[in-house]
Amino acid sequence: MNVTVTGAAGQIGYALLFRIASGQLLGPTTPVNLTMLEIPEGLAAAEGTALELQDCAFPLLRTVTVTADPVRAFDGVNIALLVGSRPRAVGMERVGLLESNGRIFGPQGTALNAGAAPDVRVLVVGNPANTNALVASAFAPDIPAERFTAMTRLDHNRGIAQLAAKLGVHVDQVRGLSVWGNHSALQYPDVNHATVGGRPVTDLVDEAWLVDEFIPRVAGRGYEIIKARGASSAASAASAAIDHVYDWVNGTGDQWTSAAIVSDGSYGVPEGLFSSFPVRAIDGRWEIVQGLSINAFARARIDSSVAELIEEREHVRALGLLP
Ligand code: NAD
Ligand code: LMR
Repeated sequence: MNVTVTGAAGQIGYALLFRIASGQLLGPTTPVNLTMLEIPEGLAAAEGTALELQDCAFPLLRTVTVTADPVRAFDGVNIALLVGSRPRAVGMERVGLLESNGRIFGPQGTALNAGAAPDVRVLVVGNPANTNALVASAFAPDIPAERFTAMTRLDHNRGIAQLAAKLGVHVDQVRGLSVWGNHSALQYPDVNHATVGGRPVTDLVDEAWLVDEFIPRVAGRGYEIIKARGASSAASAASAAIDHVYDWVNGTGDQWTSAAIVSDGSYGVPEGLFSSFPVRAIDGRWEIVQGLSINAFARARIDSSVAELIEEREHVRALGLLP
């Protein structure tokens, strides 16, 4: 499989590449050709990482290519991890990156359209991830929009970890969490269908904790980490990217997870927006979990997150970043 990582010399890139090369992205029997895309200023550091990859003598790693040319980087690519872009700093919302980062994803969409393998799968990690995925997909008219996704798996994993800590159980006991909407402060981590050890989470925690602590904690976790670390999450983001692609390729089994995918209009989310949903991966495709009941509180939270996605789309349109 041909795997391309953009922003390969960045923090997330450094945490991601070794896990891909060791087989954690695609499984222990799939050889990988790894390509790193960087801007010219990042090439020297990416070359250094390539030396380290060589030194690991990973049995599954076939070739390593470092380039600043998106057309070369995406030629024949099966899995594209679009990480390269600026992270936010203290005092910023992710949407503040829209103009600078949005400009990166149009040309990358064009390059993907020109040369990607017919089965390409794209995960956008760079923020604001949902709208960057919308931009990249808009520039790749020959690639089905379903092949473009944005990462909310980190939010999903954060939600599971918070519930497990609160209830004193292991993370594998927590099931049925859903993250809806935008990867932003307005995301909605929803426990209405979640269970722990088979019992509904809503029977185990009180509503005040959910509204005043759980939701803001999960939605604000990226910022909490930026303040604590002085840099945005990197290893946990790389880990979530691995989880997202591994599940997409290998299936989610009897579980569901969360991912931002193009809306087909399900749950009242306007068609064409890249919104997070509860999803299952079946036969290599994401499917939105259907038929979940949505109460008035959930409806309002989903609607406000979706309204923000619509605003972001208008913003990139006004900036001339959509074709
Ligand atoms: P970083 O600054 O450490 O690395 C970014 C890298 O991207 C740099 O090496 C830079 O040279 C490179 N780059 C910039 N423009 C590029 C381009 N056009 N093509 C190729 N490479 C390019 O940042 P980071 O900490 O690795 O974070 C990367 C992005 O991921 C940020 O936007 C951050 O906000 C986002 N992020 C998203 C999530 C999520 O859950 N969706 C989680 C964490 C971080
Ligand atoms: C995160 O959720 O950790 C990332 O999106 C980084 C950020 O800006 O919060």
